[in-house]
Amino acid sequence: MKECGRLRIKDLLKIAPVGGDVLVKGWVRTKRGNKNVAFLAVNDGSVIHNLQIVVDVARFGEDLLKQITTGSCVAARGKLVESSGAGQSVEVQAETLELYGGADVAAYPLQKKGHTLEFLREIAHLRPRTNTFGAVFRMRHAMAFAIHQYFNDHGFYYLHTPIITASDAEGAGAMFHVTALDLNDLPRTPDGAVDYAQDFFGRATNLTVSGQLEGELGAMALGLIYTFGPTFRAENSNTPRHLSEFWMIEPEMAFYEIEDNMDLAEDFLKYLIRYALEHSMDDLKFLAGMYDGELIERLRFVVDNKFVRLTYTEGIRILEQSGEKFEYPVSWGIDLQSEHERYLVEKYFKKPVILTDYPKDIKAFYMKQNDDGKTVRAMDVLFPKIGEIIGGSQREEDCEKLQKRIEELELSEKDMWWYLETRKFGSAPHSGFGLGFERLLLFVTGMGNIRDVIPFPRTPKNAEF
Ligand code: 4AD
Ligand code: MG
Repeated sequence: MKECGRLRIKDLLKIAPVGGDVLVKGWVRTKRGNKNVAFLAVNDGSVIHNLQIVVDVARFGEDLLKQITTGSCVAARGKLVESSGAGQSVEVQAETLELYGGADVAAYPLQKKGHTLEFLREIAHLRPRTNTFGAVFRMRHAMAFAIHQYFNDHGFYYLHTPIITASDAEGAGAMFHVTALDLNDLPRTPDGAVDYAQDFFGRATNLTVSGQLEGELGAMALGLIYTFGPTFRAENSNTPRHLSEFWMIEPEMAFYEIEDNMDLAEDFLKYLIRYALEHSMDDLKFLAGMYDGELIERLRFVVDNKFVRLTYTEGIRILEQSGEKFEYPVSWGIDLQSEHERYLVEKYFKKPVILTDYPKDIKAFYMKQNDDGKTVRAMDVLFPKIGEIIGGSQREEDCEKLQKRIEELELSEKDMWWYLETRKFGSAPHSGFGLGFERLLLFVTGMGNIRDVIPFPRTPKNAEF
């Protein structure tokens, strides 16, 4: 794409003929050289590679060159020539050079390479200008695009579910309240509770923890839908895999049983990883070199191998017989910790695992109940290095069973009337799952901390940018 004659470096490296005139605009990553000649490594964000601009100092004056420092933004026009320098095939011999904005050497924090990821989190406004975050955010885009591509190709409709909601889809999660009430002067009911009837929506509302319940309404009409939006959890989880605000992809399919759901989840994940291998190799190679030497091999391995499928009960048996010392002891009924999930995936099967039929007491109210009275038709997809990447289930389509479960869990049947109506009017077997977008990104980028795969992470005590 050209913009006033400008080529982005990504396109320039592919199509610009050597000997031709090019216009480049971008941010200076490094400046080297001597009194006579300066070499500016410029990056414009389109690709991991920099383009070297060779500047004849006498031609533009020492004053201008002094102002062009690491972090500055420049535009240069000139001839594209073959480069004799290491690490690049072409460079630009500047004929015009313009400084858009300088960057004070003493104040610009990205003066040198090699900052820690922890430090870069403190400058989330500037970290996209590093190689690492450029690569990660380009891959984030590629994965978002691939997700829409996959579902569109498979006949799914993108359904926008609300961010502000009165329901609690997972029934367990801590939620962020949404209110327009004056917190210093709350209206009260006669018994002293906050009177949400006087609030903006006339009732208590919160940020959604999942678009699933509304997604099910869509599936019961359009057949195949997916949501892809931000979700919010006010849990105090300070781990490398939890965010308070994360993006989730939730397909929901009428007439799908749990096996169909597993097939879709496996095919979908493999498509996304294959897409990354086909479209993001430059960034993948960079990230593999910097952080995770086995990254590309691991991605290929997941694409090439069938996921193992087994029940929770079988999984527990393997863990109990493993002889492994786990921090959290294993017995039937426990909620699996990431150490357990990773043992199954990384040590025992050495393959992604889909675990099904969990105890009903550790899963949400909407999951289809098995005949044993103890388990539900849940499925979690467990990945190497990540643990749970997908959580899903077949849904309970029997209205009576669902009502009974809602009662048992002391959830509000009154608030769920619209959800229950899908089971009263034309109920059908259906299934769905949720893929955590940032967990997917952790996997495909090889990054170790979920705070480093979202531009502006929200975690407990952290919402600066
Ligand atoms: O297992 P979860 O809680 O399932 C649901 O919300 C269902 N309503 C999904 C469905 O069936 N439609 O969350 C789904 C996925 C997890 O497997 C995980 O990848 C991700 O969302 N996830 C988180 N990612 C980042 N930070 C958190 N705090 C997350 N909690 C869940
Ligand atoms: Mg889950």
